[in-house]
Amino acid sequence: MQRRKRMGKSALILAGIMMLGTAMSPVFAQSGKKGKSASSASKVIGPKSGQSGDQVIRTAVPERPSGQKHVLGLRAPKLDTVRVGFIGLGMRGPGAVERFTHIPGVKIVALCDKHGERVEKSQKILDKAGLPAAASYSGSEEAWKELCQRKDIDLVYIATDWKHHAGMMIYAMEQGKHVVCEVPAAMTLEEIWKVVDTAERTQKHCMMLENCVYDFFELTTLNMARQGLFGEILHVEGGYLHNLEDFWDYYEGDWRMQYNKTHRGDVYPTHGFGPACQLLDIHRGDRLDVLVSMDTKPANLPEYLINKRGMSREEAYDFRNGEHTMTMVRTAKGKTILIRHDVSSPRPYSREYEVTGTKGFAQKYPQEGYAFRSDSPVEAGVMPDHENLSGHGFVSEEAKKALMETYKHPIHKELEEQAKQVGGHGGMDFIMDYRLVYCLRNGLPLDMDVYDLAEWCCLVPLSEISLDNGSAPVAVPDFTRGHWNDVQGYRHAFTE
Ligand SMILES: NC(=O)c1ccc[n+]([C@@H]2O[C@H](COP(=O)([O-])OP(=O)(O)OC[C@H]3O[C@@H](n4cnc5c(N)ncnc54)[C@H](O)[C@@H]3O)[C@@H](O)[C@H]2O)c1
Repeated sequence: MQRRKRMGKSALILAGIMMLGTAMSPVFAQSGKKGKSASSASKVIGPKSGQSGDQVIRTAVPERPSGQKHVLGLRAPKLDTVRVGFIGLGMRGPGAVERFTHIPGVKIVALCDKHGERVEKSQKILDKAGLPAAASYSGSEEAWKELCQRKDIDLVYIATDWKHHAGMMIYAMEQGKHVVCEVPAAMTLEEIWKVVDTAERTQKHCMMLENCVYDFFELTTLNMARQGLFGEILHVEGGYLHNLEDFWDYYEGDWRMQYNKTHRGDVYPTHGFGPACQLLDIHRGDRLDVLVSMDTKPANLPEYLINKRGMSREEAYDFRNGEHTMTMVRTAKGKTILIRHDVSSPRPYSREYEVTGTKGFAQKYPQEGYAFRSDSPVEAGVMPDHENLSGHGFVSEEAKKALMETYKHPIHKELEEQAKQVGGHGGMDFIMDYRLVYCLRNGLPLDMDVYDLAEWCCLVPLSEISLDNGSAPVAVPDFTRGHWNDVQGYRHAFTE
């Protein structure tokens, strides 16, 4: 019975579609009834019969409206001062306000949250920093729209719950603003395509605030990868493995628990997926091709609802998301990515971050380390010894430190010290915000574009489709609509 409840709407519609395919697997045949529709599944167009990849579920790619241009490498006019308005001042938002008080060339113009007292709390941050009060918006679901309409704002910074993200981003761009949004910035294929289309139509910057790509190990490793230390990178692993037990009761209106209760799949993939996609030059010479997801049954979250909130067993176990979700993605150029999500197992925090190349290997959790082939410059001259089972182990701590110093990313060279002082997950949040402002002030392309947003977020709906269809392979749309190979290699922009 619980299995039936976990069957999503996308499974029901797909079952009907799959009937059309010639190579229908038994799983598809048994997976549901015909004729239901669901918002995300309504775009599913089924397998292409008679071609290789018969079993792959494909979702519709809306045509780019005529006259609308892609935003790869988008540059906007330089802003002398970046005038910003913040929406969403719960657990995450005020930290961003505080970080912005340390960034030169910024004016904090407006603050918004549904709750007036949260706005007031953030006003105190400005006061403490010796800055003038910002305009306050609160008291209704829609007050944020007035913030977006202001003529004296260049950038809208969103840190609300997941369900508000896409609508707010779209509205902000339509009001002529650049927009950045917390992770994941969009949760359904409809939302993702609308965000992409709005960014292209308005030619405004639209960036997801994926902070983990700026963390010290990740950015150093990306720099090492750029310089070829790992050879060709073939496989990357990442994830979000974080027991959120202490946090559940603090999300406004219980949005995060409710999302997990009603959605299956990797609902929070971007911390692991973002760094992986940058390493593999996704839409900069390679593209995501197909994914497959698998999950365990739900366990600790329903038990939490029973034990901590007194929910009935039946109601608590009417829970869509599995405790542990794994998604494997293959790229067009034959690379693979494994992404995991688990927010309720009693285990140490990990974003995994494992990089396997033809010449080297990097791992961040549980222990940061690098390993290389013995003919690489790092271990040159070391004779192989078959008795030595740690012969292929990590380079020594000293060698690792030396490597990390040698390959420190230029961004870290400039910002590491200040970032560690200002903080925000050890400094990476400050680096993210600083880079955003730097690029806007210098008229440079941002470090992450709207196609990164789309690719990193699409794991949310596509993993759900795969899971609801017996872990069927699902094609990942090309969100650039034909331009994934125009740019070769991921890089950050700098002034000359
Ligand atoms: N990048 C990271 O490391 C990181 C860390 C934590 C959270 N996050 C993300 O940040 C976002 C916010 O998470 P949180 O933990 O702060 O959640 P939260 O529930 O504490 O805060 C959300 C805030 O949005 C406000 N809000 C909701 N609807 C609104 C509306 N219509 N108008 C104005 N304000 C509205 C709420 O009142 C609340 O204060 C989420 O997307 C989350 O995934 C990212």
